[in-house]
Amino acid sequence: MSASKPMVGAKVYHLMAGSGDIAPYVLTPGDPDRVPRIAKYWDNARQVAVHREYVTYTGTYKGAPISAVSTGIGGPAAAIAIEELLTLGANTFIRVGTTGALQEWIKVGDVIINTGAVRLDGASNAYAMPEYPAVASYDVVLALITAAEQLGVRYHVGLTASTADFYVGQGRPSFNDYLPPWSRDLVNTLSSMNVLNFEMEAATIYTIANVHGARAGGIMAAIANRKTNEFIPDAGVEDAIRVANEAVRILHEWDTIKSELKLRYLTMDVIKRWIKQ
Ligand code: URA
Repeated sequence: MSASKPMVGAKVYHLMAGSGDIAPYVLTPGDPDRVPRIAKYWDNARQVAVHREYVTYTGTYKGAPISAVSTGIGGPAAAIAIEELLTLGANTFIRVGTTGALQEWIKVGDVIINTGAVRLDGASNAYAMPEYPAVASYDVVLALITAAEQLGVRYHVGLTASTADFYVGQGRPSFNDYLPPWSRDLVNTLSSMNVLNFEMEAATIYTIANVHGARAGGIMAAIANRKTNEFIPDAGVEDAIRVANEAVRILHEWDTIKSELKLRYLTMDVIKRWIKQ
């Protein structure tokens, strides 16, 4: 066993999964309980491993090979999951998260497809300088939008701010109402920059995926609105799950056509052929 790439036998140290256990398309919710909720829509699903905050299932969804792996909360835990998933051959990541909306017009229960993330997560600084963008892959974003349209789910598209903390890090007063000066106006500052939402993992996932030439995107259920001060646990989560699963089916179909046409990138030719089939 090497200290620089810790393994337990043939398994990666944190996920406790081995080669052949992980599909190329991986849904990455934070919450371990969301993994079986995602997998209940699959044609077949097997539990691969349960270790710490990382629950892993693999199966197929309408012909697409798919895994779901929980990342736990926050950038450091998510970075570990993405690292180990890359090692096991994953190349496309879709975060299926919950979020606090920063715009008044976003209703609690809506879903948000995040094209990029403000890097307040901390963990991505281990990978790249602050100027490096945390952007989603355009084909993953398009697959999520297409799936939301097909399912009739109310969605928004734009930037998230991924934070290293849920309370003070998102401008919520801490114990005894402690709130440092830099957090006091954070909600209004980000909202005035047209940032749509707060969550805690997208920036880390998008940054690491880009560093390694992998694809990433994310769909978040707005369980809170920080402007209207509403909070409904689980609102929109089932919609986000359904859209994410369908987005994997769509991406898999596009990827198959891409390889038939010998194209590296998703183009209008791929979309036209897909619509005809
Ligand atoms: N997740 C977050 O990070 N913030 C919220 O307000 C809700 C979910």
